[in-house]
Amino acid sequence: MIFRQLFDSVSGTYSYLLASRRGGEALIIDPVLEKVERYLQLVNELDLKLVKAVDTHLHADHITGLGALRDRTHCVTVMGEQTKADVVSMRLADGDKLAIEGLALDVIYTPGHTDDSYSFILPDRVFTGDTLLIRGTGRTDFQNGDPRQQYESIFGRLLKLPDETLIFPAHDYKGETVSTIAEEKAFNPRLQVKSVDEYVEIMNNLKLANPKMMDVAVPANMKVGLHQDEIAGRGWSVTADEALAIVGRPDVALIDLRESAERERHGVIPGAIHLPYPRLQENIAAGGMLNELARSTSKQLLFYCAFGERSAMAVQAAQDVGIANARHIQGGIDAWRKAGGPLLR
Ligand SMILES: [Fe+2]
Repeated sequence: MIFRQLFDSVSGTYSYLLASRRGGEALIIDPVLEKVERYLQLVNELDLKLVKAVDTHLHADHITGLGALRDRTHCVTVMGEQTKADVVSMRLADGDKLAIEGLALDVIYTPGHTDDSYSFILPDRVFTGDTLLIRGTGRTDFQNGDPRQQYESIFGRLLKLPDETLIFPAHDYKGETVSTIAEEKAFNPRLQVKSVDEYVEIMNNLKLANPKMMDVAVPANMKVGLHQDEIAGRGWSVTADEALAIVGRPDVALIDLRESAERERHGVIPGAIHLPYPRLQENIAAGGMLNELARSTSKQLLFYCAFGERSAMAVQAAQDVGIANARHIQGGIDAWRKAGGPLLR
């Protein structure tokens, strides 16, 4: 496995670049906007293809690199389903897998620091975001934080992992880089409590100042979505209501860009071809399946995904290779469902 721990000294944030091999797909956890060029350079140097950018939660102390990385690499942005970010390409829930080629992280919902906090687990390590830090825990006094929930997330979930599991948090302010479950059980001062009430008492009396960047970072991090109106302005979008009228017509090829797990959980639009977004480029290139379909049949390609972000990028990519008859459903299957569109499960 390729694993890099990257540090932003301004916010004390750790970001993690993961891949199973050189030349393969990569994902990044908790990227910082100001460091995007550095990440892209490293991705390039290691001959990787960045396919997913993930935030463990909505950050209050730095602006996320998710939007910039998506704009630069067309990667999929990922957060938990509770996030208040306007649009991310993919939303995860407890029990899901966060997968790229050769790697699958278990997704667990660990609220408490915020109500959208997640942790991601590999067999030997866990990425804990700000839920569990090294000799500390993430504050619980804003962004719908809740010390009771955090106690449950830590004691009920994270500390049940094997003792030797490595802990990689989203922050450290003292230069610590890694810990283990056993170490934190024994030496984390916040975890030496006899009851949830004792933990709540500690967390409710920390009297911390708000993060310096909070008034800037939180609003910015809630607006990471791709500007789908630019695609719409070029006439490349259909609304969910318009889609209802044309889906099923013989001259329309409907293409579902989501992953299998998303299709199983949220259902599919009847008649759609499944063609996951990571395989888009090969399919729209000359000789590719979609390229042939568009050229030989004069069918309109109508892409959709979860919230319209992957499909907007797919339309742009198709137009870029000369497939003029490509559109997408603005707002994705989320908008389709709200418009009363039928779904197969
Ligand atoms: Fe945080």
